[in-house]
Amino acid sequence: MSTAGSLRGRDLLSVADLSRPEVEGLFDRAAELKAEFRAIRRHARPALAGRTLAMLFQKPSLRTRVTFEVGAAQLGGHAIYLTNEVVLGARESVRDVARNLERLVDAIVVRTGPHEVAVELAAQAAIPVINGLTLREHPCQALADLFTIREQLGRLEGVVLAFVGDGNNVYHSLALLGATLGIEVRLAHPPGYAPNSRIVERAQDLAAANGGRIVFSGEPAEVVAGASVVYTDAWTSMGQEAEAEERRDAFAGFQVNAGLLATAGPNAIVMHCLPAHRGEEITSEVMDGPQSVVFDQSENRLHVQKALLVELIGAPDFAGQPPGGQQ
Ligand code: CP
Ligand code: NVA
Repeated sequence: MSTAGSLRGRDLLSVADLSRPEVEGLFDRAAELKAEFRAIRRHARPALAGRTLAMLFQKPSLRTRVTFEVGAAQLGGHAIYLTNEVVLGARESVRDVARNLERLVDAIVVRTGPHEVAVELAAQAAIPVINGLTLREHPCQALADLFTIREQLGRLEGVVLAFVGDGNNVYHSLALLGATLGIEVRLAHPPGYAPNSRIVERAQDLAAANGGRIVFSGEPAEVVAGASVVYTDAWTSMGQEAEAEERRDAFAGFQVNAGLLATAGPNAIVMHCLPAHRGEEITSEVMDGPQSVVFDQSENRLHVQKALLVELIGAPDFAGQPPGGQQ
């Protein structure tokens, strides 16, 4: 089903901004774009021709930066990467950054620490603002992850995702999106590293409405037992480096290794948003093993974000349009 039109001009700050049919439509669009590019190495319909993306990144990135830049280019558009020369709210207020960029570009991808900065940027800018990671959420990651699960397992129905580690931004987005799509999302975390309680409440409400479940435990083996997906992320997120040592101690029993994975069963897939810290939250044996789909997951950032850009800012349809006849 195409969602053409329904996402046009909107922001994506949280995965909870999207309804289940909107997510399913995005996944279908991403699958079409992926298949087309694989078959002919180009897109017959360059839906982002003439469109420009500003990428305001206050934290490092490999995947998010490259997939947005490559995705825009493959669809005939252009992306401008802006890093430390534009520190939001320092050289210039967030409002003034928004009021300049909205006249020049078609959308903004923002990566920053405080979620409120992304919210403020979106409130001030008349163009779509996409959250490219804040300390609260990583919506593009979760969209690519659930798309990958659907692709790898051929379904979402009945899927149990077991997240082992920190109740962080990636967990928050997975819990909200998993709940929207009606899957079971489990988290095993050490004491003191629980997720944000308001996000958990929202995820529980979404799960209740859509047939999903949100489950917690202090025991990795308990959540991994019978899981279809075993997921982990860094013990220390960007911006928390001062806590790295104390986090290494707290998370010592929360490593995804061969012993833990064996309790999930041979058909479970292993996921990690990356970058990975081999030997900490995941062993190389598991990350490079036959159950790992971490690089498929990484590639799917490209396809899902292309679908997102087409829906948010793409030309509705160029077919049969006179020059200048479309915006
Ligand atoms: N997973 C992810 O967002 O990777 P980057 O931090 O490299 O963009
Ligand atoms: N939780 C990690 C995700 C990196 C993609 C972080 O915020 O650093």
